[in-house]
Amino acid sequence: MNQTLIDEAFEVMKLNDLGTYTVPTHGLYPFQWNWDSCLTALGQLHRDEDRAWTEMETLFDHQWDDGMVPHIIFHKEDDGYFPGPDVWATGRPVPTSGITQPAVAGFAVARMFERAKDRAMASARAAKLLPKIARWHDWFYRCRDPRGTGLVAIIHPWESGRDNSVDWDEAFSRVPTDGVAPFQRRDTQHADPEHRPTQAQYERYIWLVQHFRALGWDNGKLHDASPFQLVDPGFNAILIRSCADLGGLADALGDTDVASRSRELADAGVAAMETLWSDRHNQYLCLDRVAGEIVESLSVGGLLAAFAPIPKHRAAAVASRIKQLGSQTGYLVPSHDPGDPRFDHLRYWRGPVWLIVNYMISDGLARAGQHDVSEAIRNHSLELIGLSGFAEYYGPVDGTPAGGATFTWTAAMVVEFLKAGQGR
Ligand code: DGY
Repeated sequence: MNQTLIDEAFEVMKLNDLGTYTVPTHGLYPFQWNWDSCLTALGQLHRDEDRAWTEMETLFDHQWDDGMVPHIIFHKEDDGYFPGPDVWATGRPVPTSGITQPAVAGFAVARMFERAKDRAMASARAAKLLPKIARWHDWFYRCRDPRGTGLVAIIHPWESGRDNSVDWDEAFSRVPTDGVAPFQRRDTQHADPEHRPTQAQYERYIWLVQHFRALGWDNGKLHDASPFQLVDPGFNAILIRSCADLGGLADALGDTDVASRSRELADAGVAAMETLWSDRHNQYLCLDRVAGEIVESLSVGGLLAAFAPIPKHRAAAVASRIKQLGSQTGYLVPSHDPGDPRFDHLRYWRGPVWLIVNYMISDGLARAGQHDVSEAIRNHSLELIGLSGFAEYYGPVDGTPAGGATFTWTAAMVVEFLKAGQGR
């Protein structure tokens, strides 16, 4: 049974494999996405190590001179996606978007290095990626935490990957829409519009892109110039975990500078995460940096925090919060609190379950010794696959598949859940 699922997952990954990079799914997302590729490489490693390293290398071949790794690489033309390279206008030789995405690469490469059977290849290829990932981490803290708080802000909802989370609603309502050039959305031609962000949200997404483009994509300016600066515990947790794991990888490869710098960043991040903890809600919350206020929105970002090496008592509290969510819904982990009137069970990040998030939370909880909740999340993830196939995301109430189909990172996470034993 497990082998059948693994074979099916490999088929999905092969279907979306374009040789040196993998698309998330044909049609809806026809290019290379940053965090999709990193999580995909973890799954690929179980089938073809050389191909998995190539996935990471292709992504880092497009790192910007300032250290940023963009969220989309437009390897070839495809007018089935909006906004395309002409809207971003970043002026890169191979066009890219101008914002970034969750920094999962450090975690992914460290894990690939640990697991790879071809040790010589792993050492050689990880050693080349190491300084590039370290440069990206430095970029984050320099450009997205200019006041040195220990936590970075996203300046566009697309950076978080959780595009239309309830977390952003209030801050996003301050983003204007005047001067947005008329556009034709493409996503709603590939996926049910009821599963996607709204038109009003898209207008604000595009306003921010136009605003940053007018500033010449200069990352020395963008953070302070953005009316949207959100400190997301989930996003920071991924970066912190990647810094910590990159430190371990650097030790193994003998790079003491990267090792100590990475640990320094991770320690500062873990300490600063305390400012986002809510005793009242038993989870972490976002900070709206422009308003200087904590955001009262109970999303999965505050639970994804468990992916970082947070204190054990915090991980235990997050585990108990997830157990409570389990009594309110059929499948863990909903991307938003089902008790909130803003919960929307099939609409992208306003309710649905995502396997990549489940994987990261489950992994973090297992490391913190919270094995029962970690295992429950894993089991729910595999039940969803059995019920609804390799969808982009799933309704937490009844497991309805939603968004795109035959989705690469969903398949990669299934392989990870079944083959890798979650690092235990
Ligand atoms: C999209 O187009 O839906 C993406 O999430 C933006 O990266």
